[in-house]
Amino acid sequence: MTKGIILSGGFATRLRPLSCVIPKTLIPVVNKPVIERQILLLKSAGVREIVLAVSVMADLVKKHLGNGEKLGIKIEYTDEKNPLGTAGAIKLAEDYLKDDDFFILNGDVIFNFDFKEMIQAHDRYKGLGVIASKIVPDPSRYGVLIVEEDTNKILKFLEKSEYTPPDGKNIPMPINAGVYLLEPDIFQYIKPNKKVSIEHDVFPILVSEEKLYHYSIPGIWKDIGKPEELLEGNIQLMKDILKNLKEKKENLIDENLDIEGKALIYPPVTIGKNVVIKKNCRIGPNVIIGDNVYIGANTEIKDTLIYNEAYISKNIKCEKAIIADNCLLHDGVQLVGNNQNLVILSSFVEVLDNVKLIAPPNSSLTVCHHDVVRLDVS
Ligand code: GDD
Ligand code: MG
Repeated sequence: MTKGIILSGGFATRLRPLSCVIPKTLIPVVNKPVIERQILLLKSAGVREIVLAVSVMADLVKKHLGNGEKLGIKIEYTDEKNPLGTAGAIKLAEDYLKDDDFFILNGDVIFNFDFKEMIQAHDRYKGLGVIASKIVPDPSRYGVLIVEEDTNKILKFLEKSEYTPPDGKNIPMPINAGVYLLEPDIFQYIKPNKKVSIEHDVFPILVSEEKLYHYSIPGIWKDIGKPEELLEGNIQLMKDILKNLKEKKENLIDENLDIEGKALIYPPVTIGKNVVIKKNCRIGPNVIIGDNVYIGANTEIKDTLIYNEAYISKNIKCEKAIIADNCLLHDGVQLVGNNQNLVILSSFVEVLDNVKLIAPPNSSLTVCHHDVVRLDVS
């Protein structure tokens, strides 16, 4: 029976400060931790047992998911004191995974495809494994795959720093989507108790032995490793879920939403449980709101992700922003990002009356957890 392992032990530095208080894999996408979404997709392909390769903030992941009972799947955890790299982490789980082929997932990618089709692709190719691929316009921040069109064999695997685009210009290329289906023979290629990267140290060898194939995944795909990608991934997944719900005439707005008078909602919008929206608000498009959130009158929110337990007072404007859990925005606050850069509030941030936080043109503006932001009156 196919099992699975989810890699969720990196430091997530590019997602700081959001990842300082919550491990990347527990960050919500459309109001559900990314790892839960991955587990449910594995489950729907018949996977019944998984291992979580946790390291940084392992306790929080264990506390949230426990033995998996809540999700109807059996979860084991590896004991990785210091991050051992992607392959080192897999090697630690050898005892759980040595009997059959298994899925490996990077714990920070969003997708919505049928894993059974990847199993079928592996049965057809009969290699040592299959890597899920996706064509992206800018492949420079991913592992790039050079593939043989007619056989789907991978001819070269070039991890980030190893790929130079022709003429220095990015062109769309298939990249490693961070989902693999591998045979247990893989363990022979990984030295134990050492920091080993599957991308740098293992895949290139398998490719040189002509044992790796790729499977081009349909539908959405996003790595949420950076805040801009996290917001974009939330929006992409929300649209994808809504497309499927449309036939059932359902949406992603909680039926008990407490909305006052003339507040307007412009889809696509997701709203969690126990949310209050006061009068004359304009919410959307591209807004995801978690549970237990209050939004005061005359507030405008678009292109924004709001986690749980936020108190957003009146006369507020939020555009291109991420507001983590338990933030408090006082009257007249403005959070304004731009196309490339966001305004990001980590957990428990308080922004006092009339503060305007505007992202500069070349970087996001971030506020660390528990900070209080006030008008500079000096
Ligand atoms: N347990 C454990 N231990 N997990 C780790 C470790 C480790 O030492 N290092 C990284 N991980 C986990 C991360 O938590 C993440 O879920 C996954 O492995 C991938 O690491 P990232 O740091 O997110 O890598 P990346 O996004 O730069 O690149 C990887 O993903 C791309 C697709 O999103 C590579 O696999 C690329 O080839 C790929 O294109
Ligand atoms: Mg990543």
